[in-house]
Amino acid sequence: MIFEHENVISLKDFEKEDIEFILEEASKLEDVAKSKEKSRELEGKILGLLFYEPSTRTRLSFETSMKRLGGDCIELGDAAHSSVSKGESLADTAKMFESYCDAIVIRHNLEGVSRFLSDIVDVPIINAGDGAGQHPTQTLLDLYTIKKHFGKIDGLKIALLGDLKYGRTVHSLAYALGMYDVEMSFVSPDELKMPKETLHDLEESNIKYNQTNSLKDVIDDVDVLYVTRIQKERFPDVEEYERIKGAYLINKDLLEGKDLIVMHPLPRVDEISYDVDDTKYNKYFEQAANAIPVRMAILKNVITHRFE
Ligand code: NCD
Repeated sequence: MIFEHENVISLKDFEKEDIEFILEEASKLEDVAKSKEKSRELEGKILGLLFYEPSTRTRLSFETSMKRLGGDCIELGDAAHSSVSKGESLADTAKMFESYCDAIVIRHNLEGVSRFLSDIVDVPIINAGDGAGQHPTQTLLDLYTIKKHFGKIDGLKIALLGDLKYGRTVHSLAYALGMYDVEMSFVSPDELKMPKETLHDLEESNIKYNQTNSLKDVIDDVDVLYVTRIQKERFPDVEEYERIKGAYLINKDLLEGKDLIVMHPLPRVDEISYDVDDTKYNKYFEQAANAIPVRMAILKNVITHRFE
């Protein structure tokens, strides 16, 4: 089987086989990811990093992944120091990137931007987060982390907790988990529930889920607790954020005696206490490390597919 997607934009475009294929490919790249083995598979290829929103892990892990495969990166850098500050449009910037590189990774605050770019440029587009929309490559590394720990995804009980309204990682993850036989729970303050559109899509595909605002309802009977940050930057009203922030706190005491793993796409603000870091529950740093083999698998397939 080959991965036939030209772009990586939304989990809605994926089948379970596509996900499994990338996870399998990623596991074969573990040694290259850890620099135990050398690869020149993408030698001569250039990845364009077009980040209009802050990023640490996503940008750096794409860069590391590309370099570990022998390729190189160019990046827009700080918008204030590029022609964006002179008023250059996103479309013009992307057109220029198209002629300078072999694939573009884009992060933007507007939903749908990566789809828009895929219509106007001929190089593969990888969505690294479009507003409150999706974050598909994060989902692939989340699933990889779950599978690596449990040896499977089917049969697990998985709770997504926090800002389910504005959090793009949980939107992609919900669509992906819907392709597996899992018990999904959505735990959020009432104001930050999973968007109606996502719930509607899940229902259309006969995917069952529970919804609650109480962590107590799920904490004793869950295998994965996927925690997210309240997305301050997406709140139209700062006072609303101030009222809701700190809605949940995961700490060592709460987890004592439980049989589960805690995941988080990071950055965390105050939703996971630092005393969880040194416990067996902590999977969030490993999750960040897994970004490398998974993003390597994505880059390898998307870029080489283009030249087949
Ligand atoms: C996430 C994002 O940008 O959506 N970060 C990431 O890529 N790991 C999560 C977040 O910012 O809360």
